[in-house]
Amino acid sequence: MLEIQDLSLELYVDKTWKPALRPLTFRLEPGEITGIIGESGSGKSLLAKALMNILPARARVASGSIRLHGTELLSLPRHRFRSVYGRQLAYIFQNPAGALNPLMRIGDQLLDALLAHEEVPRKEAVRRALKALDEVGISDPERVFRAYPHEISGGMKQRAVIACAVIHEPDLLIADEATTALDATIRKQILDLFLVLSKKKRMSILYISHDIAAVQYVADKIMVLYGGMLLETGARGDVLDRPLHPYTADLLQAVPYHVKPGTKLAGIPGNVPPITAKPPGCIYAPRCGYATERCKEDLPPMVVAEDPSTAADKIPHTHACFHPLLRDSLGKETHLNTHPSSPEGRERYVQQPAAH
Ligand SMILES: Nc1ncnc2c1ncn2[C@@H]1O[C@H](COP(=O)(O)OP(=O)(O)OP(=O)(O)O)[C@@H](O)[C@H]1O
Ligand SMILES: [Mg+2]
Repeated sequence: MLEIQDLSLELYVDKTWKPALRPLTFRLEPGEITGIIGESGSGKSLLAKALMNILPARARVASGSIRLHGTELLSLPRHRFRSVYGRQLAYIFQNPAGALNPLMRIGDQLLDALLAHEEVPRKEAVRRALKALDEVGISDPERVFRAYPHEISGGMKQRAVIACAVIHEPDLLIADEATTALDATIRKQILDLFLVLSKKKRMSILYISHDIAAVQYVADKIMVLYGGMLLETGARGDVLDRPLHPYTADLLQAVPYHVKPGTKLAGIPGNVPPITAKPPGCIYAPRCGYATERCKEDLPPMVVAEDPSTAADKIPHTHACFHPLLRDSLGKETHLNTHPSSPEGRERYVQQPAAH
């Protein structure tokens, strides 16, 4: 549905344009939730904004292609923007509650969202707005329609914002840290709502979050972004339970949810490099416990891991690492003993471009 091919971005820093996102290639499919994880500053929001055509002034697309149902969006004429952005592709901002106008009733904000993109008689627009409120799980849509934001709870506000985004039934909904500020109960309700929208309405959702437990709960596929580069992609179970890239494994070791009780949280030493730092080798090499000289000199290509599963619909598990983590037959990591020089380790992986 949305095909992203070799998309790269640049940022204007110190009076020059510098590479920020290295060429990224991936697809977003209807009915699928794709989670993006990665530390703060990895470029998750820049990527989301590039897809929505709302990049900040000092950022630009340097190359690549973004195609929606085969139509190239990067060369879309201006007069067609309104039929795509906000309508077929919708975006929920960080702190969504702040996205509501405190002086306008929820219903009027929904009508504005709808009428900005579609010409609909008022009666029909009201019907659609009430339906949208109902679909996001608001049990008394009429009351919420007439309410001001301060008259409804935080969870309701969040649902109202989502209703504004999905009123056009977009093909793709991008949720950028949309649940991070919510308490656990409301967060789960909103995540369940995303699951309903994706499975029942066949909506594609790009769910960006620091919260790996939330990504694990909703995502079908996961992309791991670091320093503006994709380091690993694959099905949720593959990436979170059997990560191949040391960065993914280190990231998971830093999450309380993923380590056994009583184990010390690992944390990742060092910081995320500036997104415009582009060393010749692997971007993670300076922080990686397994990096070799080769990692510092050569850029590891994205490759598809060989998988014994022959299922045709198997989501490819890809990684950009010269020394991916190994597992024994029980799924236990054997990396520490055999890595990185073990020849049999490297032979397990097929070096071919990611057909993703
Ligand atoms: N307009 C801009 N000008 C200069 N640098 C920018 C601009 N926008 C973003 N950056 C830089 O790009 C990097 C990536 O930013 P981005 O907001 O995409 O990170 P993120 O992965 O979404 O982080 P977070 O998890 O904190 O939201 C950051 O280091 C930021 O400093
Ligand atoms: Mg962000």
